[in-house]
Amino acid sequence: MRKKYILGIAAVAAATALALTGCSTGRTASTSSGSTSSIPKGSLIGVALPAKTSQNWVLAGQDFQNSITKAGFKADIQYADNASPVPSQQAEINSMITKGAKAIIIGAADGSQLTTQVNAAKKAGITVIAWDRNILNTKNVGYYVAFNNFHVGQLQGQALLDGLAKEKGSAPYNVELFAGSPDDANAPLFFNGAMSVLQPKIADGTIKVVSGQTTFQKVATQGWLAQNAQKRMTDLITANYSKGTKLDGVLSPNDTLGRAILQATKSAGLANPVVTGQDSETASIPLIMNGTQYSTIYKDTTLEAQAAIDLVSTLSKGQTPKTVDDKNNYNGAYDVPSIELDPVLVTKDNAVTAYANNPTLEALAKAGN
Ligand code: BGC
Repeated sequence: MRKKYILGIAAVAAATALALTGCSTGRTASTSSGSTSSIPKGSLIGVALPAKTSQNWVLAGQDFQNSITKAGFKADIQYADNASPVPSQQAEINSMITKGAKAIIIGAADGSQLTTQVNAAKKAGITVIAWDRNILNTKNVGYYVAFNNFHVGQLQGQALLDGLAKEKGSAPYNVELFAGSPDDANAPLFFNGAMSVLQPKIADGTIKVVSGQTTFQKVATQGWLAQNAQKRMTDLITANYSKGTKLDGVLSPNDTLGRAILQATKSAGLANPVVTGQDSETASIPLIMNGTQYSTIYKDTTLEAQAAIDLVSTLSKGQTPKTVDDKNNYNGAYDVPSIELDPVLVTKDNAVTAYANNPTLEALAKAGN
């Protein structure tokens, strides 16, 4: 376990400090990047989310609506368009600035395409919080709230190794690698985390990547789109696995792509490989319980949204949030002060307990047990 979610403790400490110095809870908060911002209760909080490329983003909208309202702010929640995610998200952020939002929480459609909007927000005195995905190349992102993405990748890499040992006899194992979209700052972190576990096993011959495709550029999936992963898997099978070479496992960066990969292997008539995932999507849990998909990651979206809104509340009270400095969250301009939550690896073995706080997921796990 690396970084913990410790904002609550910091808030209590900061409140005590304020009480001792006789200050009332003010409206001006000093942020970790040294700036000041003002987020009075009742003010507008903008939430700009990417297109709904996976179920977590669908859930996020409702979670933000609930947590923002409950904390006493007004919510303006927008999703990027599927067809033109970058310009639509840029326009949505501009509009939030115009509407007078005091904080803007952004799940970036493309983390490298928002510097103009983020700089404009900062100039208008708005606190910008990168949410789930980091925003690159600007010091004007105040905070980053996310699960520890490198650790997500480490868990995926280890799950692949464990699944291979459990289900595919002894090494060596034939494996293929997939990564997420190059416009998502998370995608290389997931991949690098996984490769920190898998690379030594490739080097010592435990794992063989039959296609030879092992760089992020080669294995990335543009737009996190299922059809792109399915096509690449089909092409890999045609080129490398059509003459009886068996495919033992596939590193998949999330559940949507995992199911697309499994679709391709099934259509080609291959034996079910060990496939990893992420997001605990409702469509994948039955597959995990019946042994089709090996693993997923649970990143509780409700908690992640709440962490961002707790941060807003802390700033609103004029308190200094407790953040961590993680070099993986360097955005090309600085290490963005971060609040990191712990991802949980889920397989058939621990699904029922892992989802104990989520009735929908717990019921799916129990149904498949
Ligand atoms: C999120 C993942 C998600 C992916 C595709 C990433 O930035 O962290 O949870 O699977 O985007 O939407």
